[in-house]
Order: sequence, then C-alpha cells, then structure tokens
Amino acid sequence: MRGMNLPNIVLTGFMGTGKTTVGRLLAERLGLKFVDTDLLIEARDGRSVSNIFREAGEEVFRRLEAAVAQELAEEHGLVIATGGRLMLDSQNALALQKNGRVVCLVAEPEEIVRRLAGDTQRPLLNVSDPKKQVNQLLQARAARYGRFPQITTSGKSPETVADEIIRYLGESNLIRLPVTHPQGSYDVLVGEWLLPRLAELAGGGKPMAVVTDENVGAEYGRFCPPNTPLITIPAGEQHKNLETVRTIYNALIEAGIDRNSTIVALGGGVVGDIAGFVAATYLRGVRFVQCPTTLLAMVDASVGGKTGVDLPQGKNLVGAFKQPAIVIADLTTLVTLPLAEFRAGLAEVVKHGLIAAPSLFFRLENIDLPENLPLIPDLQSLVVRAITVKRNVVQADPFETGRRAVLNLGHTFAHAIEQVSGYTIRHGEAVAMGLVAAAALSAKLGFCSATLPGRIMAVLARLGLPVRIPADLSPKALLAAMNTDKKRVRGQMRFVLVRDVGDVFVTGDVPETAVLQVLHQQQIARDEN
Ligand SMILES: NC(=O)c1ccc[n+]([C@@H]2O[C@H](COP(=O)([O-])OP(=O)(O)OC[C@H]3O[C@@H](n4cnc5c(N)ncnc54)[C@H](O)[C@@H]3O)[C@@H](O)[C@H]2O)c1
Ligand SMILES: [Zn+2]
Repeated sequence: MRGMNLPNIVLTGFMGTGKTTVGRLLAERLGLKFVDTDLLIEARDGRSVSNIFREAGEEVFRRLEAAVAQELAEEHGLVIATGGRLMLDSQNALALQKNGRVVCLVAEPEEIVRRLAGDTQRPLLNVSDPKKQVNQLLQARAARYGRFPQITTSGKSPETVADEIIRYLGESNLIRLPVTHPQGSYDVLVGEWLLPRLAELAGGGKPMAVVTDENVGAEYGRFCPPNTPLITIPAGEQHKNLETVRTIYNALIEAGIDRNSTIVALGGGVVGDIAGFVAATYLRGVRFVQCPTTLLAMVDASVGGKTGVDLPQGKNLVGAFKQPAIVIADLTTLVTLPLAEFRAGLAEVVKHGLIAAPSLFFRLENIDLPENLPLIPDLQSLVVRAITVKRNVVQADPFETGRRAVLNLGHTFAHAIEQVSGYTIRHGEAVAMGLVAAAALSAKLGFCSATLPGRIMAVLARLGLPVRIPADLSPKALLAAMNTDKKRVRGQMRFVLVRDVGDVFVTGDVPETAVLQVLHQQQIARDEN
C-alpha cells in the first residue's frame, strides 16, 4: 500500500484542440495512466460516438458520458481527456474537479478547422460550412470553457503544450518558503509536478550530477535531465557510510564533474545526507540541491544544511554543514512511497508539532489514516507547517550552538534504538519510540503532566507508528549507545524534554537511572512481543 493519492489531471476544450494527443504525451511524461472519455464510451458501448449519436441520439450519449465522469471522479492519478462538452455539464465538472486539476486547451478556429479537416467522425461538424459552425459553437461555449484555466495550443507542438501544462500544474499551487542562513538564503519549494522541471528549477544554468538510490532512481530517474550523470547508490541507512561517499566521488570524477557543477540529491534523507556531504567536500565544495522524495526528508532532513554519514560507532558521526541552493519538494513523489515510510515521516511531523506547532499536533490527533489517505492538497499545508517549524529553528541557530538542539526531541533515544537494532528499525519509527520515551522521561522528572506521554503515544499509534521499544533491544545496550552520543556533546548526555505540546527545552541534567527506568518501562514486555 502506498502513502498518497494523486489528483487526476483533466483536459477539457473544444474538439480539435489536442486533448487526446497532448493527454497521452502528458501521461507518458508524468508516468500516469491515460483515459479518453470518448474512447472509453466507445469501448463500452461497442459503437462509435457518431453512431451512438445517430442511432440512439445525443441524450443517450450524454447519459453515458455522465456515468463515465462520475466513475472517473472516484479514481486517482489519471490523465483524462474529456469529450468536448463533458466538462460543460455542471454535474460532470463538479465531480471531476473534486479530485482533479482541470486545464482547458484552446486553439484558433482556423487551426481547429484545419486539424479536423477530413475527420468525418465528428457528429457536430458534418455541415457544409465547418468554419462557421466552429465559430458559432466556440462563441456559445466561450463562457463555460472560460471557467477553467486555459492553455493555448495554436502553433505549438504537443510537447510544448505538455510542458506548459506541467508548468501550470506546478506553479498554480506552489508554496515557496524562504530560509535564511549565514551565507545567504534559499527557497524550499513545496508543490506538485516539480521534478519534470528539474533542469529549470535546480540547474542555475550549471552542469549537474544527480545522486539517487536504487528505489527512487527506478521511479524518478527519468526526470534526470539529458546528458546529466545519474549516480545510483544502494538504498538504506546501512549504506549511509564513507564507502558510499567514496563510490560517489569516483563516479563524479569519472563523469568529469567540476567545481562549477551542481550536485542534486534525489531521494530520501539517506541520499540527501550522503549527497550533501559529498557536495560539501568534493573539490572543497560544489553547489548543492535537495529533491526530497520521502515525507521525512521533506519536513526535516532536506532543510537546515546538516549533512553527513554514519560510522560503525554511531549515527551521523562524520558530517558537514552544507546549505542547499534550493530544496524542491515534489509532493507527487510521495505517491510511490511505501506506506511504512510515509508513516515514518509523520513521526517527524508529530515531533515538529510538539516542538513548536500545537495546531499541527492537534491536527494529527484528528487526522484519518490510513483508511483515507490524504490527497496532495491536504498534505501540502501539513508539510509546509512542519517545514516552517524546522525553518524557524534553524534560522535562529544555524550551527546548533543552542536552541536548534530542540529538533533532536526523541532523537537521543531514537539514534540508540536505530544503532542497537543494526538499523533494521526505520529512523522515523525509532523517532516515534523516542518521542514517547522522551515524554515519559519528562513526566518522570516532573516536567510535564503524567497524561502527556499517553497522549503522544495515542497520536503516533493512530498514525500506525510503533511506540514501544522492541524487547530484543536491551536497555543496557541502548544506554551504552546513548553514551556514544554523549561524546559529541561535551561529556554529558543531552535530552530534549517536554513541558507541554509546543513547549520543549534541552537539558544535560538527567540522571542515568531515570533514563534506564524509562527504557525498561517503554519496552514491549517479552510476552507482548
Ligand atoms: N540532515 C538532517 O537534518 C536530517 C534530519 C532528519 C533525518 N535525517 C536522516 O534521514 C535519514 C532517513 O531518511 P528517510 O526516512 O527519508 O530514509 P531513506 O532515504 O532511507 O528512504 C526510505 C526508503 O524509501 C525509499 N524511497 C524514498 N523515496 C521514495 C519514493 N518517492 N518512492 C518510493 N520509494 C522511495 C528509499 O529508497 C528507502 O528505501 C536518516 O539517515 C536520518 O539520519 C537527516
Ligand atoms: Zn529525525
């Protein structure tokens, strides 16, 4: 099961404006299924549209059309070329707009007549003066077509029209979040269908190399611009290490990537962290672009400039600050993200709610998952709100000298859980367990109410996340792993504790015995396992 639903893309417009040709091309470019309502009706009825008109009458055809519209409205991720009048019916339009982005193709009357010349199958054009007929019909329908965003096709190739539709879909609901940092600023773009425009959005006119992993490469490698090296690494945290960094350096040198180039990370947090570290160090640093394709990487890993890899001794022990030139979060990529990964990302969204966005936390307490997977428009505001929390924190403390440490809420536990499990537990899942443990620790030390840990546990469990530490991870081993973290922070184990939703603080002053008690308490009893 996958983590997202995609809206349909619905093409409307007068006959001869190119809906079918462009729709097919668009579907191919975006990796979607194409449906033409007229062809669907013909396949079902067994007669051509003109024969249905002739033998059964227009009214029968309109009924068939309405049934198809209602049916397609329930589907997701289709490119639908609609019959010329289908979307002019308000019931049909209402149904298809509910879950679809509509674009109306238009063309000059002369061009329509030219395109349709010789087509005897068009029931409305079998007249002596087709040009007059086209003009009359266009005028009669102008107001109703005018309700939809229009793209003119006159004098353009289908490829150009498809490009313009992709651009329209991307720009019309794009959200740009500017992030400032000590060397400048960059934008985080959150929207739909941005990867097909990778060269335009990421390139800055410079040559690029794209780094991805095998899963993301298989789905989205085709968006890598022509003549651009695509470097594919194995997927998974166990490859977030210096060996992988070395293979990327080799590939870059082999491809002749120089200091004027851009390294693009196309993937989840693992790809972003590794490729960012490579971009920070290769030739002493080259331009870097993040294209996060997991929810987790969108709301967390791709923003803030931290990059790095793991050592056998612990997570993220080698790294660098490397600010991206731009972050391109294409929400449509979440459609292929496995549900478990989608949920893992929601753990970081819960974390951001707890840190500084109570309304986000309350929203997650009430969200319906996984039965009603969110549509992209619903998800966009959630993602933007979560990124805003991270943005505000990293802007205030770009090098983590103080407040930024709050972003590690739940992470002292989580990193230990990941490490002791041999990275068989996803980062986001470990974060879910870590958030509950951090809240339990806060309650134990008297900083928050005794009910808050249960409430946090309930939200995470509702989102389908694991909330208890597996029984096979011994508390002693976890504590030892946390003490590796300790070396990084001046000899003290540091924790982020919670006072309330939206109110957290960092402290080094936590007795080890309390931590150990929480680890025991949060563990799944062996018989529960
Ligand atoms: N730098 C930071 O500030 C920061 C912050 C948080 C997390 N992180 C790091 O991020 C990493 C976790 O990131 P993650 O959860 O994205 O893991 P990930 O990169 O391993 O991705 C999870 C899995 O999903 C697959 N995948 C990714 N996008 C997909 C898509 N669109 N469709 C289908 N499959 C897809 C990947 O191939 C992988 O198998 C950890 O290493 C963590 O330490 C870094
Ligand atoms: Zn994290």
